[in-house]
Amino acid sequence: MTTAIIGVGNIGGTLARNLVAGGEPVVLAAKNRSRAEALADELGPLARAASVDHAIARADAVVLALWLDTIKDLVPEHARVLEDKVVVDPSNPVAFDENGQATRTLPERQSAGSLVAALLPAGAHYVKAFGTLGADALAGGARREPRRVALFYATDDDAAATAIEHLIGAAGFDPVKAGGIAAAGRIEAPGGDLHQFGLNGELVDLDQARAAIAGSTAQPKGTR
Ligand SMILES: NC(=O)c1ccc[n+]([C@@H]2O[C@H](COP(=O)([O-])OP(=O)(O)OC[C@H]3O[C@@H](n4cnc5c(N)ncnc54)[C@H](OP(=O)(O)O)[C@@H]3O)[C@@H](O)[C@H]2O)c1
Repeated sequence: MTTAIIGVGNIGGTLARNLVAGGEPVVLAAKNRSRAEALADELGPLARAASVDHAIARADAVVLALWLDTIKDLVPEHARVLEDKVVVDPSNPVAFDENGQATRTLPERQSAGSLVAALLPAGAHYVKAFGTLGADALAGGARREPRRVALFYATDDDAAATAIEHLIGAAGFDPVKAGGIAAAGRIEAPGGDLHQFGLNGELVDLDQARAAIAGSTAQPKGTR
């Protein structure tokens, strides 16, 4: 399985490192191709750089590690090559002002997941994942011992579920399904109760993640 990562910033760059550390081949693309090439050189033979269109065409799964506004522009431009791909969306409906203050960019009841899923061609296999932790936690929490950190995902698609369970495991985490696309808002920030920021910044393990999905009052302890 080859994974295209479109965007090699905080999330895309971290995910590329985590997947290569887990033995996964990746194809990297960015706005500025030299950034993707520099990261591919650093990561070695499992990583290559390509244009956005070629990266998607060569991959089985595609991670859109981009800001939501960029996704809205980029998906229609590359709709033809996204057909039949597993499309992984880590985006959050958030923007930052010049003082670093975060603001929500969608109405309260609309998730970024529902918006991105609706943009995709009918044959694409959509899953929301890899946006539930801050980039530092995604880097530092991989392959935690003795208990791995859980990463939530949300999808209505069986093929996407199989692929993301594999990728989350290869990236060094335990996969946990939060629900279908209707549950995507629960794993997004701001506002999602299953996002790291909705869990008081904690990195939860599998048991804690399952309890959180069920709405248990059990608080994760000492797992940051
Ligand atoms: N940062 C976090 O802690 C965090 C946590 C959870 C979820 N997220 C979500 O993850 C997404 C990415 O966030 P980030 O912090 O990783 O952003 P970022 O560091 O700003 O990286 C954005 C990447 O998008 C690339 N890009 C922009 N326009 C493009 C285009 N037209 N074609 C191809 N690539 C393009 C940029 O390319 P260049 O490098 O060439 O400029 C850059 O590599 C956002 O939706 C965010 O909400 C972020």
